[in-house]
Amino acid sequence: MTDTSQLQGDILAQIAAAASPDALEAVRVATMGKQGRVTLLLKTLGGMSPEERSLAGPAFNGLREAVAAALAAKKAALDEAALNAKLAAERQDMTLPVALPPTGSVHPVSQVMDELAEIFADLGFAVATGPEIEDDWHNFTALNIPEHHPARAMHDTFYIAGQPNKVLRTHTSPVQIRTMMGQKPPIRIIAPGRVYRSDSDATHTPMFHQIEGLVIDKGITLAHLRWTLETFIKAFFEVDDVALRFRPSYFPFTEPSVEVDVGYSSKTGKPAGAGQVDKWLEVLGSGMVHPRVIAACGLDPHEWQGFAFGTGVDRLAMLKYGLTDLRAFFDGDGKWLKHHGFSALDLPSISAGAAL
Ligand code: PHE
Repeated sequence: MTDTSQLQGDILAQIAAAASPDALEAVRVATMGKQGRVTLLLKTLGGMSPEERSLAGPAFNGLREAVAAALAAKKAALDEAALNAKLAAERQDMTLPVALPPTGSVHPVSQVMDELAEIFADLGFAVATGPEIEDDWHNFTALNIPEHHPARAMHDTFYIAGQPNKVLRTHTSPVQIRTMMGQKPPIRIIAPGRVYRSDSDATHTPMFHQIEGLVIDKGITLAHLRWTLETFIKAFFEVDDVALRFRPSYFPFTEPSVEVDVGYSSKTGKPAGAGQVDKWLEVLGSGMVHPRVIAACGLDPHEWQGFAFGTGVDRLAMLKYGLTDLRAFFDGDGKWLKHHGFSALDLPSISAGAAL
């Protein structure tokens, strides 16, 4: 009995002294392993007389349980200490200021799209989207451009091999159709996105960006269109006054159709009021949504009217930020982006003045 309690004291002291998981494992093997002291002691029970065994059995088993419990408790303590040490070593001080400013920059096209979304959000327009691989019906037919209509050829359409009814959308106008079919009027949306035409030179790239605008409501007239465009151009170019010239034009999906020129002052390099204008720049196509387009979307054109406009985002970016070569937009040249890009932390907002 004395031997057993001495042995137990001895082993528990070793366990208490084990300072690492490895040291503890060595103690476990030396006591509870196949050749361990406790294991071997338990084996001696087999060779004892019944009287001896009735005394030694409970003592040995008590020893085994005490050792097992001490090993388990010590292991839990060591594991917890190891986890705490690891957490302390990996601790990051999130309150420290960043050592380097973020690199990379926002492309002028993305910046202009964000600015436009901000300006139109303030006028109550939501942002809508549609697929870039579009079907013939949404891209043309529903927009009053039937098969064999010359406007189809004018769009320099990319067709998709093996998919006779699919095209890469040639404009963002199919989003007008998707929106009118997907939600009830009144509608006020803009739809920014990529469009594709088989055309390439210094001022044309096969992929470029448009932003579409659509308003459908009751009693909408050209006056609403004019006010909206004027407000948007002033906000976008950050000028107080702007001269607009509405030229009669033709789009199959608007009637009447107007192309809008912005009066420009070479002196300030910005759009200007009537007195300062010395040249005109064409910036967008627009018009009153054709009754046939409204009807194609399942709405009654006697009840609902509206206007739509479409403009090139790349061109707006060139005008606002004085960029000259459209192709540079798509070169992915890091130096160009660093020079002409915008800080990712500097989001345009009307309240901060960046978009006004
Ligand atoms: N979709 C026309 C284009 O790409 C632009 C436009 C949009 C014209 C909406 C009128 C109304 O040229």
